[in-house]
Amino acid sequence: MQAASNKLAEYLGDAPTVVSPEYKSREDGSTMKALAWFGARDVRVIDAPIPDITEPDDVILKVTGTTICGSDLHLYHGEIIQLKEGDILGHEFMGIVDRVGPNVKNIKVGQRVVASFQIACGECSYCQKKLSSMCDRTNASGLQNAMYGHRDAGFFGYAHFTGGFPGGQAEFVRVPKGNVNLLPIPDSVPDEKALFLSDILPTSYHAVVDSGVKKGDVVGIWGLGPIGQCAARFALMKGASRVIGIDKVPARLVFARGKSGVETIDFSKYSDVVKRIQELVPGGLDVAIDCGTFHEPKTLLHKVEKTLMLETDVSEIVNEMIESTKKMGTCGIIAAYAGYTNHFNIGALMEKGIRLIGHGQAPVHKYWRDLLALVESGELDPTFIVTHRVSLDDFPDLYASFDKRLDGVEKVFVETKFSAPQSAGTPQLSRPADWQKTIYPTS
Ligand SMILES: NC(=O)c1ccc[n+]([C@@H]2O[C@H](COP(=O)([O-])OP(=O)(O)OC[C@H]3O[C@@H](n4cnc5c(N)ncnc54)[C@H](O)[C@@H]3O)[C@@H](O)[C@H]2O)c1
Ligand SMILES: [Zn+2]
Ligand SMILES: [Zn+2]
Repeated sequence: MQAASNKLAEYLGDAPTVVSPEYKSREDGSTMKALAWFGARDVRVIDAPIPDITEPDDVILKVTGTTICGSDLHLYHGEIIQLKEGDILGHEFMGIVDRVGPNVKNIKVGQRVVASFQIACGECSYCQKKLSSMCDRTNASGLQNAMYGHRDAGFFGYAHFTGGFPGGQAEFVRVPKGNVNLLPIPDSVPDEKALFLSDILPTSYHAVVDSGVKKGDVVGIWGLGPIGQCAARFALMKGASRVIGIDKVPARLVFARGKSGVETIDFSKYSDVVKRIQELVPGGLDVAIDCGTFHEPKTLLHKVEKTLMLETDVSEIVNEMIESTKKMGTCGIIAAYAGYTNHFNIGALMEKGIRLIGHGQAPVHKYWRDLLALVESGELDPTFIVTHRVSLDDFPDLYASFDKRLDGVEKVFVETKFSAPQSAGTPQLSRPADWQKTIYPTS
């Protein structure tokens, strides 16, 4: 799939951009540790050249915190096209500014900053509305243009389908358009609270805002990974009267019940999720949000069709959402999808008047200042979602353990040699190879 997509991309050629993913290495030839992709379930820590200022708007960061995302698992499984061997992954990271290009005026060397997972130009019509993930000028993938009719912004560490920019699961990273893609962090906010402004906080918040959750709503959330857990919190903050979370990982169900007061459905026990929701909420959900993942089909039909490449994605969750939501209710998709799916219940969508919203990749710039203010005021403590702390050296094991959802893992803070000492009340350093080899509840 990768070889074919890379060939097709070559044939289609690059779309125009104002930034280049290539970077200049430092003249002294110095190297850094970075996590790179080599194939499905094959990621390795490599020595890569440290990036230098390549374009005048660049900032080089010394990474002080990074992490793994459910979206990285799609890369790990080789489900996103246009990956190449040696691609450095990672789209959620923060750090200390090491070097700035001559055009960078609002970011200074030595400052602590968080990067958005998307690279926005700051000037196009989307960027002017802070819809940074929709930026028109930073992703050269002609293939995405051909498949979707338009293309997303460039993303860090997320295949050449989103621009081919080296990512932040590394000791250093080059941030193009540093003036717009970095958010300065005040000293009062430690890295463990700031890092998640890069992606999961704006993403889950966007899903709740964009699907219009309001006071009194009954909200269903499919998938209780970090995105689902944070979306549940934000739905409750917006006044939802009940949140029902659906997953099958016991520790994640326990986490949602215990930490956020979410009602849960274990879909390994209730195979008919729609029926169970109708028992719990006879009129149907007001809002349903897909925070799951398309690479784990439940039914034999989709397993077979996906394996035979008769579809790239799976419509099971979307169908369950449509069938569980009340007439004229809203279903939102924040989970990532790549291409096409079979057996989509278009009839139920139409007949019930369901408002089905693709939330898109979340426009981080639209929300990150407001969310930082909530963190600063103490109204939002993102460390509730951090279950582990791991060293960059252990990234390959972390991919494997996060994929299997061992040891009650939700979000992980990954430290580098530049990280500050661990903040009080956050998890101790552990090694994923030593994590409990069980997915059963830990409390
Ligand atoms: N749109 C965006 O901007 C954006 C940003 C970040 C992540 N994402 C996407 O959000 C999704 C969630 O991310 P995450 O980090 O929480 O991932 P994760 O992989 O840690 O969690 C996904 C959860 O979904 C559950 N699941 C799988 N199949 C299910 C089903 N049929 N019904 C209910 N639950 C099911 C899994 O058991 C798992 O607990 C991923 O698809 C990720 O790619 C989107
Ligand atoms: Zn992500
Ligand atoms: Zn733009």
